[in-house]
Amino acid sequence: MINQSFLSLSLLVLLFHSTTTLAQPALAPAPPGPTNVTKILEKAGQFTILIRLLKSTKVADQINQQLNDSNNGITFFAPTDNAFSSLKSGTLNGLNDQQKVQLIQFHILPNFLSLTNFQTVSNPVRTQAGDTGPGLYPLNVTTSGHQVNISSGLVNTTVGGTVYTDNQLAVYQIDSVLLPQDIFAPKPPAPAPAPAQPKAKTKKKTASSPAGAASVDASDALSLTRHGMLMSIGVAMIAALSL
Ligand SMILES: *[C@@H]1O[C@H](CO)[C@@H](O)[C@H](O)[C@H]1NC(C)=O
Ligand SMILES: *[C@@H]1O[C@H](CO)[C@@H](O)[C@H](O)[C@H]1NC(C)=O
Ligand SMILES: *[C@@H]1O[C@H](CO)[C@@H](O)[C@H](O)[C@H]1NC(C)=O
Ligand SMILES: *[C@@H]1O[C@H](CO)[C@@H](O)[C@H](O)[C@H]1NC(C)=O
Ligand SMILES: *[C@@H]1O[C@H](CO)[C@@H](O)[C@H](O)[C@H]1NC(C)=O
Repeated sequence: MINQSFLSLSLLVLLFHSTTTLAQPALAPAPPGPTNVTKILEKAGQFTILIRLLKSTKVADQINQQLNDSNNGITFFAPTDNAFSSLKSGTLNGLNDQQKVQLIQFHILPNFLSLTNFQTVSNPVRTQAGDTGPGLYPLNVTTSGHQVNISSGLVNTTVGGTVYTDNQLAVYQIDSVLLPQDIFAPKPPAPAPAPAQPKAKTKKKTASSPAGAASVDASDALSLTRHGMLMSIGVAMIAALSL
């Protein structure tokens, strides 16, 4: 009796076991839900300002979406709260919404890089912020062993440690915010835009003045005589009409 019930119990367990293993054909254990960069940073602590920016700019959603949609992965340089608080005060508040998005995207590379992968990247490295041209969004990486230095041209910093890595997403801690040149470098004076129509008129007037006071006097005199002529014609006409 005991033996029999034991046997049927073990049979049941065996049956249950085989059905559950059959139901999960994947070799690797499935991760608990899609990767969520915000959750990863929350768990790590000391990234509250970054998390706030990731949410307000919606870049967190972009990262999660990209991780789900592509196999290239993502590398994310995550500045700590200390990094943000050592910025000159007003630095973040001085940015418009678009610039905040670009600042965060400048910290993201559109592919997964392990620490050793950095040894083989070619500079400038492309970030999610786009154009790597001088004065725009260039980012250089230099390595020595496992030390990885990154430079935006305005800020040099060193990768301070791995917060998270899973062969799709790598999150590295950095202790300075990478300031992109396009937003923070003093700009050389922009080439003058094509002048608007009303401006062209005033420009023409000032353009003639460098010729000297004499020419200004001459043109004034000319316009005076013109006025005089017009006035005499007018007077003549009035006189003719009144006749
Ligand atoms: C990601 O995690 C954050 C914080 O835990 C949560 O607020 C957010 O809803 C999550 N996003 C998704 C897409 O699950
Ligand atoms: C993730 O990708 C799959 C297909 O690749 C898609 O069906 C699913 O809707 C995506 N999930 C999200 C949250 O975008
Ligand atoms: C990285 O930066 C540190 C500190 O500025 C410096 O001492 C080191 O030589 C740099 N290493 C590389 C590989 O550039
Ligand atoms: C990156 O390196 C190149 C080549 O050494 C250099 O010309 C460029 O100025 C550097 N840019 C930055 C942002 O450090
Ligand atoms: C960053 O490092 C480069 C080379 O190591 C150096 O020429 C440059 O002056 C540094 N820039 C800043 C802002 O510290």
